[in-house]
Amino acid sequence: MKITGKIPTVKFSEKFKDLIEEQQKLIESIPNRMGGQGNLEIIYQLAEYVRATRAIETGVSYGWSSLTLLLSLNEREGSQLVSTDLPYFSEHSESYVGCVVPDRLKSIWTILPYADREALIDALKILPQIDLCHYDSDKFYQGKMWAYPLLWQALKPGGIFIADDIDDDFAFRDFCEEIDRPPWIVETPFTNDIKYVGILVK
Ligand SMILES: C[S@@+](CC[C@H](N)C(=O)[O-])C[C@H]1O[C@@H](n2cnc3c(N)ncnc32)[C@H](O)[C@@H]1O
Repeated sequence: MKITGKIPTVKFSEKFKDLIEEQQKLIESIPNRMGGQGNLEIIYQLAEYVRATRAIETGVSYGWSSLTLLLSLNEREGSQLVSTDLPYFSEHSESYVGCVVPDRLKSIWTILPYADREALIDALKILPQIDLCHYDSDKFYQGKMWAYPLLWQALKPGGIFIADDIDDDFAFRDFCEEIDRPPWIVETPFTNDIKYVGILVK
């Protein structure tokens, strides 16, 4: 693989420290506990690296990965993020989906609030070719093996594929074998757990 982009030197968590802290406080005031965030540092650095303008993500929850992508995309004219999310069934969860995203970033964002099997098809109609995708929704093997090829097919050459929680099952490994591409595996350290993110460059 030829590396042509410039790796940003500023950490996401430092560059947007105040906004992250503010939105963290907002989350603490919400009664509903929803899905945890992906590896925001990796998402931001890779979006900056490919200078992404068109991105699709699956799985929004509070919207941390959406916020991260939007903060990068917003720097480039004509950018668009399309996100799919079937909200959790707990009471009023749908009203908190994407709640950490400030209004000023919403003009370049479309959320499709239903299951991937329909929403991803619609997302790809809006953005048939993308620079980057982040998969973090349906955690079942079958769901991943259904969605990964669709996202991969939509990626432009040199585009970035990011899959969260690849240690849950062998879907990411099997997909990499299927398309015969070597992945990068990145560790996401948490306080009580260690999770892995899979990255592919098309
Ligand atoms: C782990 S959370 C996403 C976290 C988010 N990417 C972040 O970094 O902040 C997973 C989300 O995917 C949604 N989800 C689960 N299964 C889904 C499906 N089949 N289609 C669409 N969304 C789904 C859940 O309701 C939840 O909001």
